[in-house]
Amino acid sequence: MDLRSFKLHRPDQHVRAVVVGARGEQGRDLEGPAYARVDAVAGPMWAAFERHAGSPVRAVAVDAFARHATLSLADARRPGLKLPGSEFEAFVDVVAPVARTIRGELIARAPDVPGAGPGEARFWDPMFAADTGGWELGRAAPPLVTWFSEHVPKGMHALVPGCGRGHEARLLAALEATVTAIDLAPTAIAQAQAMTPPGLPITFAVQDLFTRIGQPPAFDLVVEHTCFCAIDPARRDDYVTAVADALQPRGTLVGLFYAHGRPGGPPFTTDRAEVERRFARRFAIEQLEVAQGSTLIRHRQELFAVMRRR
Ligand SMILES: C[S@@+](CC[C@H](N)C(=O)[O-])C[C@H]1O[C@@H](n2cnc3c(N)ncnc32)[C@H](O)[C@@H]1O
Repeated sequence: MDLRSFKLHRPDQHVRAVVVGARGEQGRDLEGPAYARVDAVAGPMWAAFERHAGSPVRAVAVDAFARHATLSLADARRPGLKLPGSEFEAFVDVVAPVARTIRGELIARAPDVPGAGPGEARFWDPMFAADTGGWELGRAAPPLVTWFSEHVPKGMHALVPGCGRGHEARLLAALEATVTAIDLAPTAIAQAQAMTPPGLPITFAVQDLFTRIGQPPAFDLVVEHTCFCAIDPARRDDYVTAVADALQPRGTLVGLFYAHGRPGGPPFTTDRAEVERRFARRFAIEQLEVAQGSTLIRHRQELFAVMRRR
């Protein structure tokens, strides 16, 4: 569930947020102790805004998707101060923790399935059915959208492992790649199929990525988004083997690796050193850096990678 926009109002101790998930947008409010938990991380943001405005600020409205903000000043005679595009980017480091906390307050916790682990469909299926998957952005990840708009995958055969509702698969197919999108969870695949307009060249299949190990290579592109972080970390070398085996020699892996730094999971965190260490065995790593343009709630928490199969 992603945070599209929010307004934080200090005098009223109130947050109004718009969240987006698989079922579209929803307005939500936070008050009382939930507001206090948000305010507890908002100090650096207010301080930065007040330095910028040169006066006390009583509210901020952030459009997280369009990436701009408006400040309401305590002096009601002064008009709101707009922070467009590049000006807003200068504040993202202090706004993102606030956005993450708001979203953390609003997210519906998935009920535990007794005894089920992330390697099983019965772990994932109920989250797709009830729309409690915290990972859901409701669209393809912005850094991947930017990359593929500049590196159009037209004519490529692409594999999307752990495709969920198929956002990245549709992105690639709309850019004229031929896509195979696989997921362990039948509910994910059913929903992905229902969301996909007829005529897009995507084959959706219920399939465990690890069953591809040792199969003949069939793809020239693998696109990773929140599959690596979803599997049991003990199987990460198997993940590398599976995606490398799926690719033709010199085939490309383009992906986002979630490096949120929190314990537990899924999503299980990673870092640059681990990605380098595990993937170097089968890939030449051409690019591995903190992603630019991540959705606000994942700002500086995603590594963007481009790798070439050896
Ligand atoms: C966190 S969700 C992300 C879904 C999608 N990539 C997105 O970002 O919207 C992880 C997905 O990986 C799938 N998955 C986990 N292990 C898998 C495996 N071994 N093979 C295929 N899919 C797997 C889950 O069923 C789930 O749909």
